[in-house]
Amino acid sequence: MSQTYKIRVRDRNTGKEYTLQVPEDRYILHSAEQQGTELPFSCRNGACTTCAVRVLSGEIYQPEAIGLSPELRRKGYALLCVSYPRSDIEVETQDEDEVYELQFGRFFARGKVRAGLPLDED
Ligand code: FES
Repeated sequence: MSQTYKIRVRDRNTGKEYTLQVPEDRYILHSAEQQGTELPFSCRNGACTTCAVRVLSGEIYQPEAIGLSPELRRKGYALLCVSYPRSDIEVETQDEDEVYELQFGRFFARGKVRAGLPLDED
């Protein structure tokens, strides 16, 4: 039998708080949906950072979070679509594009990233 953990999610955009029960072998985003909780997501495979949260307490396992730099992981960000719980956890959603900008904003500004990423040039 797998262990189940309690996950508290604070959605900073709506001000709502959710409490979920998530087994250790299930993605948190997927479990949330099954429990009727809508959280932001887009790609569902750890690449886009739409589902990123800041971890306030607890431990998350996210080996497939390729969209998140090691630095941001160290700072306590996680991608819920590819995150498994390893303890009871408290997270809050990011401001829109917070993680994306932390990760790519500076590089765009310096013009170092050119290929393979959406660039809005106006
Ligand atoms: S939905 Fe894209 S990284 Fe999670």
